[in-house]
Amino acid sequence: MTNFPEIVQEPQFSGSTSPDPAQSLIDSHGRVITDLRVSVTDRCNYKCVYCRTGQVGAQYDELTTEQYLRLIRNFVDLGIEKVRLTGGEPLLRRDLIEMVRELATWRIPAGPNAGQKLDIAITTNGHLLEDLAQPLKDAGLSRVTVSMDAVEQETFERVTRVPGSFPAVVRGIRAAQQAGLGPVKVNCVLLRGFNDDQIEGFGHLARREGIIVRFIEFMPLEEGRLWNLDMVVPVKEIVDRLSTVFPLKPLAPNAASETARRYGFTDGLGEIGIIAPVTQAFCGACSRIRLTSDGKIRTCLFSHREHDIYALLRLGASDHELRAFILQAVEKKEARHHIGEPGFLKPSRSMVHIGG
Ligand code: 5AD
Repeated sequence: MTNFPEIVQEPQFSGSTSPDPAQSLIDSHGRVITDLRVSVTDRCNYKCVYCRTGQVGAQYDELTTEQYLRLIRNFVDLGIEKVRLTGGEPLLRRDLIEMVRELATWRIPAGPNAGQKLDIAITTNGHLLEDLAQPLKDAGLSRVTVSMDAVEQETFERVTRVPGSFPAVVRGIRAAQQAGLGPVKVNCVLLRGFNDDQIEGFGHLARREGIIVRFIEFMPLEEGRLWNLDMVVPVKEIVDRLSTVFPLKPLAPNAASETARRYGFTDGLGEIGIIAPVTQAFCGACSRIRLTSDGKIRTCLFSHREHDIYALLRLGASDHELRAFILQAVEKKEARHHIGEPGFLKPSRSMVHIGG
């Protein structure tokens, strides 16, 4: 597994395509793209073992709020209906509240959901959420997902490598629930030998706190060289282990493109989800694209090609030209990832620089 120099699509002014607003974003495999993940910074205050090496690494530039909003506006005009703000750690961005407040005023311009508000979510490590949950709710945030990889302080802080992080995140989750941002979702990346002993504890947490716990299979997106297939705790094992403690029943998906397989406990109390990009990839129903903090469009977490829309913006492109560029990028969205296959190449950006 090696890194590989990536292809960056240079901006071209294109007069030929005619991207009208509200034209739906459909890739060459027929998938409709409705979800945009926006990394608002690649700075992070945690050094989670499955993501960071612990060394201070390269950091990319960040767009200004105005630049983000102009780009997101053009994505929305083409059919994006859900925007998830990620990082790095998005709560480190000072103007985040301002950005959410503006996005919350926007309406879906066309299609079956025309006139409805954009869905605006955040994925955060929760460290700064205690103070920001209420202002984010007041600004119009719809939902929050907190990354939390253990229910015990010692294991948690062995993963984050930040002393005191566990109580801060617990307070953050409580603040989000109190602010009306519930049901809070918690993402837990399982690593065999690190935190797979937490599975049952997360089952209790889901039942006790009304938190939707989602276990995620570990993907090869870390800065270092940790990943191997033996470290991935597969979906089947998670379900089997939870079921021996609390009987589970599958729940219907909320949407075809939903990444998590949902399960409820048979007594009706609590919900968990399992996101299995490694053992049960869901690329065929993918509805997502990403915008990095330095203004590159990525059409897959595992892309080896980026589309430099920021360069186009800086050249003074019109909205029409920006939309043409977005359509061209989406058109080239990869059919699927190749994790675990011979010849698989990690993308040169790690998760912290892409945005989850
Ligand atoms: N594999 C799986 N999930 C990951 N995340 C970060 N890195 C990885 C990885 N290598 C998770 C974070 C966060 C979400 C955005 O992605 O924990 O919850």
